[in-house]
Amino acid sequence: MTGFALDLRKSTATAHRDAESTGFLSRLAVGAVPVAGFAALAAQHYLIYRELESVGERMRADPVAGAFVDPALDRLPTLEADLRELHGRDWASAVSALPATERYTSRLRTACAEWPAGFIAHHYVRYLGDLSGGLMLGPALRSSYGAGTSFYVFDRIPDPRAYKDAYRTRLDALPYPPAELERLAAEAAIAYQLNIDVLRELGLDFPDDLAAAA
Ligand code: HEM
Repeated sequence: MTGFALDLRKSTATAHRDAESTGFLSRLAVGAVPVAGFAALAAQHYLIYRELESVGERMRADPVAGAFVDPALDRLPTLEADLRELHGRDWASAVSALPATERYTSRLRTACAEWPAGFIAHHYVRYLGDLSGGLMLGPALRSSYGAGTSFYVFDRIPDPRAYKDAYRTRLDALPYPPAELERLAAEAAIAYQLNIDVLRELGLDFPDDLAAAA
């Protein structure tokens, strides 16, 4: 890997470490979060992706950001299906935003809706993460929680590694000047922090549950 994709990975490596080592995710990976906590994460994802994918619809027409928008990535339908499995037909009434999720969706609305590079930053942090750690986490979540895990499956992306390679090639080819690439990387760091904040708030709402881990 060379070029901007590598720069972006390097500049966000510490943020990535912080995100993957949040207590909530570590406990989720071993089934030590109650199912209500797993469902609360799906609800926060639903609110975040509803905003991200709605910005994506508008970005489709952008000559640069439009190349990143791909229906094969769409997570909203999987989250709706998962929430229906977890909460039943009345799932929408079980979805409420944590303060950190409000901040995240508000950032997507205000900073990205009119700024293609900002949108790419948020797109990268979520979807490349979903195609990496998300796919790794999926089998463990399926064995712990059973229902509501289709978010962690990409039916329409049979070869995630090849997909990520092509994605990084698109990042390397971004036609932005260096200052704009720097702003994009700074926005990716913000996106990581917004994710970390959501995971920390979930960790406070669903603290260590040793009984479930046993
Ligand atoms: C259980 C927690 C996690 C694990 C085990 C994990 C693991 C990984 C691994 C192994 C990669 C490298 C994949 C590759 O080179 O193709 C990766 C990449 C990535 N992850 Fe995570 N991750 C986790 C959580 C997160 C979270 C919470 C986010 C952000 C919300 C995230 C965002 C990303 C991104 C954007 C990349 C691509 C980095 C790049 O190559 O530029 N990850 N992750």
